[in-house]
Amino acid sequence: MVGNRKGAACCAPTPFDPAAVAPLLLAWYGHRGRDLPWRRIFDPYPVWLSEIMLQQTTVAAAIPYFERFLVRFPDLASLAAASLDEVIEAWAGLGYYSRARNLHAAARQVLAERGGVFPDSLEGLTALPGVGRSTAGAIRAIAFGKRGVILDGNVRRVLVRLFALAGDPRSSAAEKKLWQWAEALTPRERAGDYAQAIMDLGATVCLPRTPICFECPLERLCEARRLGRERELPESRKRAEVPTVIQAALLLERRGSLLVRRRPYEGLLGGLWEFPCGEAAAGERGEETARRLLADLGQEGPLSPAGEVRHAYSHFRLDLRLFRAEAMDHVRVAEGAESRWLSTAELAGFPLHGAHKKALKLLSSPRNRDREKT
Ligand code: ADE
Repeated sequence: MVGNRKGAACCAPTPFDPAAVAPLLLAWYGHRGRDLPWRRIFDPYPVWLSEIMLQQTTVAAAIPYFERFLVRFPDLASLAAASLDEVIEAWAGLGYYSRARNLHAAARQVLAERGGVFPDSLEGLTALPGVGRSTAGAIRAIAFGKRGVILDGNVRRVLVRLFALAGDPRSSAAEKKLWQWAEALTPRERAGDYAQAIMDLGATVCLPRTPICFECPLERLCEARRLGRERELPESRKRAEVPTVIQAALLLERRGSLLVRRRPYEGLLGGLWEFPCGEAAAGERGEETARRLLADLGQEGPLSPAGEVRHAYSHFRLDLRLFRAEAMDHVRVAEGAESRWLSTAELAGFPLHGAHKKALKLLSSPRNRDREKT
């Protein structure tokens, strides 16, 4: 292996001169880079917003949210002045809601601690909630034109192939090498264009299953291509078996409305809404759980099964079993719990979390609607 630049931050060996990469990528970006809405606004606020949205969402899915969000919260001050509820509502459907909470907290932090001036240093940026090393590098490069190094999922794949990195790319040894290579390849000039070029290359050419190598400006340098291993790399992680959790959700109905409650702000899906629900104890199939939920609300009366929905989270799969019941006149809601009675039409625009959105959809399906009438 040859080719490390003298003085480059990289110490993992490279099979070619790292300085060869940026000019090839920048030339490609000039005619193949995507025209994306956040690339037309030169201001740290939309750049930061887009980077947070793109952390766990594809460009195509993020664009409409990005545009609507900017209409609703056009600048940092309006975002900081909004309530967390309003922000979560604007985020509803994008998933990974901790991003919305962090965004809101960061806006308030920048306003309170920095007079509304966005930080441009790596230190200042990573001090903001929700901004890690790669996001900070992207914001620094794209919004401020300063040298910032990125390593998101797409870039990781490009580098794994470029250097034919075998083994689990998430291991700490691989992580260290990848950051060193990312550092070595990032140019001093036009770091923002370079960051977006390598992200675009990963998203449009260096695709996970079928890379389009004949369109790649780096084909001539790529080790995986030279070895004929571009489709085998990155090696897939041996996925740990994810457990399935069974929960019951209670669709408690009163005069055409259903009871929903808000989840605590801290923790998974914090601040979002859901039907009363609970995890089934070992060996239970949901109905016993639904009965307990009913009793907790001071209700008796029959329960009828109303279907099931499945939802995948990063570390477990949810099997959510739905049960309908008619509410009695008095419903005992736990003290301090926030709850509402809403019609299915009102719920359609309400920030329910994903699994319960699916439940609502199922409930509104013709089969269930017909059942309501009979
Ligand atoms: N993924 C993360 N940030 C991005 C950006 N600025 N452009 C394209 N894809 C991205």
